Amino acid sequence: MKNKTVIITGANSGIGKEAALKFAKENYTVIMACRNMDISRRVHEQITKESNNEVELMELDVSSFESIRKFCSDFQNRYEQLDILIHNAGYFNHGEPYRESADGIELTFATNVMGPFLMTHLLLGQLRKSEDPRILFAGSNIIKHFFDPKRKIDFLDCRHEQIIKSFTVYKMYAQSKMALTLLTFKMAEKFEPFGIKVNALQINGARMSKETIKKFKPKYKLVAWVQNLFIPPASYMADKYFKICTAEQFKHTTGKLFNDKPEVMQPSPKEYPGFIKQMKQILGTRVYPAYPENTNVSDKLWAICAELTGNPIIADEKQQADPKIV
Ligand SMILES: NC(=O)c1ccc[n+]([C@@H]2O[C@H](COP(=O)([O-])OP(=O)(O)OC[C@H]3O[C@@H](n4cnc5c(N)ncnc54)[C@H](OP(=O)(O)O)[C@@H]3O)[C@@H](O)[C@H]2O)c1
Repeated sequence: MKNKTVIITGANSGIGKEAALKFAKENYTVIMACRNMDISRRVHEQITKESNNEVELMELDVSSFESIRKFCSDFQNRYEQLDILIHNAGYFNHGEPYRESADGIELTFATNVMGPFLMTHLLLGQLRKSEDPRILFAGSNIIKHFFDPKRKIDFLDCRHEQIIKSFTVYKMYAQSKMALTLLTFKMAEKFEPFGIKVNALQINGARMSKETIKKFKPKYKLVAWVQNLFIPPASYMADKYFKICTAEQFKHTTGKLFNDKPEVMQPSPKEYPGFIKQMKQILGTRVYPAYPENTNVSDKLWAICAELTGNPIIADEKQQADPKIV
């Protein structure tokens, strides 16, 4: 597929690395957007060799607004258009204490939500030049916690040190992945006039790389090794990224959450379906919690993302008013 350009964030390990290899083998122009350049250079060399394709490596820390701005500006100087944007990078270091990004935002939210929000807006102009632009978010089955009707995104958590005492990365990760599900639906609605399709894949497990496990605290390392015995390799999910972002059958699909078949998932009915049905929903992969259907929450999330990222929406609104502005 010559002349189609794809950006994959966090492409130096796990699913992102396998996705970069897959797209490169299929002859796409691949931009690996990576933070740890020591590891990334080695991986980049390996992918280039194995795919026999020119793959580009560009530096990006998706938790830092400055880094995102620099990345997008470098990209815009070199590439006319962008066809596929895959927000794969994710922060989930088991056992880590509360940490903030360079911009003073809780690190899980900064990496998994605010960064992708800003980056997408800054790349809108390039996406709009594609005749079939697609955006994909790496979601997670951790959002199943929201089948519990008491679960909600605590908006204080993404920017307030008062949560330090009750903080766990696990809880924050679940909130951040639910937030990006909400963003997926909202972006799909907002970017529909531009023909940009926005979807998410609910990942229910992919083997973790040695590099990723190395980052965990000792007791979590063992859990990860055991877990790895029962879940598919990262290439399995990378193939789903490829299918959702390239298949003709999904050309007009937007605002959807996919399972790993990949099939479009459905929201759970708002009323409690009874114990047995709910267990089926929790164990299955066809239904997701109704929480993201709540437009008050997604409006609030959108407003907070806009505020914290310096309001890139203003540019977006100008574009809506005049489709020629990029
Ligand atoms: N594996 C699973 O079972 C599973 C389940 C549900 C969801 N997911 C989601 O799937 C996606 C890929 O996960 P994976 O299993 O392939 O994990 P992985 O091997 O740990 O890959 C994560 C990638 O994200 C990058 N990253 C983290 N923070 C970054 C930042 N601030 N800027 C740029 N890159 C950053 C990492 O780069 P560094 O080397 O610089 O850290 C790494 O390349 C993630 O979004 C994850 O949440 C995975």
